[in-house]
Amino acid sequence: MGKSELKLCRLIYYSSASSHLQDSDVDAILDEAVTRNGRCGITGLLAYDAFHFMQILEGEDEAVNNLYLCIAADPRHYDVRLIIYQQIEERRFSEWSMALAKLPDVPGRYIDNLYGGFKPQLFSPDDALKYFDMLRHYLQRAA
Ligand SMILES: Cc1cc2nc3c(=O)[nH]c(=O)nc-3n(C[C@H](O)[C@H](O)[C@H](O)COP(=O)(O)O)c2cc1C
Repeated sequence: MGKSELKLCRLIYYSSASSHLQDSDVDAILDEAVTRNGRCGITGLLAYDAFHFMQILEGEDEAVNNLYLCIAADPRHYDVRLIIYQQIEERRFSEWSMALAKLPDVPGRYIDNLYGGFKPQLFSPDDALKYFDMLRHYLQRAA
């Protein structure tokens, strides 16, 4: 997957997890995402700290938009807010059809210093992307 794809885009949103959500529900979301994203060429990362989700999706713009509408309507979370929607030349997150970073297992000194932890509701668009870059490096090293 690369430059030959037309109209690639990147989308980042955050949301609040439903209060009754269990860890096993989040694992089920990941399984579902891995299978379905593989079919429509979407790649990305999902961060979760038991209170908030933040997710980055990259892929063909129609596929990403359709998926975002499905995700936004999912009752397993609420208050879904868009942080970034942009056209891109190539993917930065192409390794995983979806991967899960459970926080706070993942260290993030830059974000801790700036925001006092994983607070996606405060993140600037640039910092949200930087945070995902940091998670990507962390997950690559852990693999
Ligand atoms: C936080 C969160 C992230 C999700 N991420 C994805 C994803 O990356 N890909 C996916 O296919 N479904 C994802 N889902 C599940 C979708 O919301 C939805 O259940 C799934 O696409 C099936 O939708 P359908 O039954 O309406 O076809 C996610 C759900 C939540 C709550």
